[in-house]
Amino acid sequence: MNMKKMVPLIAANWKLNKTLEEAVDAASMMKIMLSDVKDKEILICPPFIALAQVYNVIKGSNIMLGAQDVFWEEKGAFTGEVSPMMLKDVGCSYVIIGHSERREYFKETNEAVNKKVRLCIADELNAILCVGESFEQRQKKVHKDFVEKELEEGLARVKREDMKHITIAYEPIWAISSGDPNHKPATAKDAQEMHAFIRKTLANMFDDKTADSVRILYGGSMKPDNVKELMAKKDINGGLVGGASLEPESFARIVKGF
Ligand code: PGA
Repeated sequence: MNMKKMVPLIAANWKLNKTLEEAVDAASMMKIMLSDVKDKEILICPPFIALAQVYNVIKGSNIMLGAQDVFWEEKGAFTGEVSPMMLKDVGCSYVIIGHSERREYFKETNEAVNKKVRLCIADELNAILCVGESFEQRQKKVHKDFVEKELEEGLARVKREDMKHITIAYEPIWAISSGDPNHKPATAKDAQEMHAFIRKTLANMFDDKTADSVRILYGGSMKPDNVKELMAKKDINGGLVGGASLEPESFARIVKGF
């Protein structure tokens, strides 16, 4: 399969930013600016409190809604958590799982990530599973082993036919703009090398056909000025954009920039 035939997905991860009003305003502007985009899928992931109202803005447009996290139980005594069904109920079609910031600050393990992934599959909510190594791991040349483990454990007991609900985001921690102040984006060559490795790992876990059908997004300082080079790479099927997705104009330039 020619991977470039996959429709690219560009996702905005707003993280802990924007009041309700700011989120609604940004979504309204993005809806106008991106209304002519037909050949790409666009997703915005606001904070939980803005999901329902942002959905009211983008409903019926070419922009989809996603959340930044989810819990692994459907309901019960789990203070502070939300379930996949609740996210679907407010209009989400995607959720980000296992972002490196959740792994670092909230000690999310591959086991927790896997439980979340499996409940999303059961509830037919699309999951963006984030993987990616630290600077130290790359220096020690253990980055491939680390990412392979994140994939194997994060996708444990996931069936090949369920992979249609899974998107992978490769986000090298050292490249994420809000992390290390000395961050820099991965070069397109380095990113492609890891994306190819991720696809190979998926092929080993499932099969070639399944691996070729999974979108692998790049995340880590994707910007208007590097999107074209990154997206030209064979195994890069989209982006998960943090900082540069906060301003509608910059996000629109990324979506339209390749
Ligand atoms: P960044 O964040 O684009 O600001 O580097 C990406 C992410 O963490 O999803």
